[in-house]
Amino acid sequence: MRHATRLTGFFSSLLIKRWLWEGLDVRPVVAELFLTDNCNLKCVTCACWRSHTPEELTTEEWKEVVNQLGELGFVKLNFTGGEALLRRDATEIIRHAHEQTDATLHLNTNAILLTAAKTKELIEAGVRSFNVSFDGATAEMHDHVRGQKGAFAKTLEHFGELVQLRERHGLRLRMCFTVMRENMSEMVEMAKLAQRMRAPLFFNVLTDHTFLFRGHDIVKLGEVRDEGLEGALNALLEHKKKHPEYLPRYSVICYIGDHFKDQLQKKLPCTEANLKLMVHSQGQVGGCWAHDPEFSVREQRIEAMLETEKFKTTQTDLFFKRCKGCGSNHALNMRLEPRPMMYDALWKAGIFKKRKKLFA
Ligand SMILES: C[S@@+](CC[C@H](N)C(=O)[O-])C[C@H]1O[C@@H](n2cnc3c(N)ncnc32)[C@H](O)[C@@H]1O
Ligand code: SF4
Ligand code: SF4
Repeated sequence: MRHATRLTGFFSSLLIKRWLWEGLDVRPVVAELFLTDNCNLKCVTCACWRSHTPEELTTEEWKEVVNQLGELGFVKLNFTGGEALLRRDATEIIRHAHEQTDATLHLNTNAILLTAAKTKELIEAGVRSFNVSFDGATAEMHDHVRGQKGAFAKTLEHFGELVQLRERHGLRLRMCFTVMRENMSEMVEMAKLAQRMRAPLFFNVLTDHTFLFRGHDIVKLGEVRDEGLEGALNALLEHKKKHPEYLPRYSVICYIGDHFKDQLQKKLPCTEANLKLMVHSQGQVGGCWAHDPEFSVREQRIEAMLETEKFKTTQTDLFFKRCKGCGSNHALNMRLEPRPMMYDALWKAGIFKKRKKLFA
């Protein structure tokens, strides 16, 4: 109940900020906790594994961060990375969050280390929501993108075990597929795989702007300005017409095509940046997926950061897309926007049959 009230307050305030009062201070209610920037895979899209990140927050420092977020009434804590499960103390930190806060606990993972024993431990520690990444519908594609032979088999096996436990523990499971030049031809197969697993599928969009994904020729993977993407998106829409279950909304699929022409999409404000407080692995706080943080938990309490003009101004700038753009969580950003809602209605009515340009 408290979560629903807090989220309703957040989205109502954001609507006021969007349409009536730009300067309204709307505080984040979800935290993105990067337990580590290190990783056990070598995804071609990602910079995490290319160097070692030292001096990350200790167990005690993370517990203190969690305590502060609990006191501030955050409704959801997303544990992520890098690969969060690489940390031996991940379960201990999560259990602490379960004991000290009433937040929903979520984990993003490549699922390589998510053995049956680890899954049991995490569920007992309070995790009720998992995003697992699949960057291909086949072993060949997934292993190529993820840089490790055998990764697909392991991730699928571990995800299958989660699916078995879903009803008993009320788990919320989601499969995440990052669309790029290499794998766009597998979107329909990926949709079928998610439908077989009865798991909602999210199509993330490749970017080289986010702090984890900068440099290293990642930009080349995003060069998908050709006919191939349009064909792949329309094939996905055709599949969705017959089998809509577990797939994103029409407008969300349309956005993928727009993103690869212009990552900013200025006309669409960024709810994501306003919703989430980012806490990085070495304690830096603030910014968003592509805008660098300006504070640190090693220097200041989180409450004090939220009170500063700098934090409030940055939140407003990011919400109105005075940023580089990155496409992160575009589905959320479109949730309360008039144009996507209208597009979805026209698709449902059968008036729109193929992908339409949304904002580009
Ligand atoms: C950085 S990972 C962290 C969690 C975990 N290691 C995993 O792979 O699921 C989070 C998500 O970012 C996605 N990702 C990786 N490289 C990306 C890029 N260049 N642009 C957009 N998303 C990317 C991954 O596919 C994954 O779903
Ligand atoms: S996308 Fe995830 S699994 Fe892949 S290298 Fe980056 S952090 Fe690791
Ligand atoms: S779209 Fe802009 S504000 Fe939103 S997360 Fe990306 S860079 Fe940040």
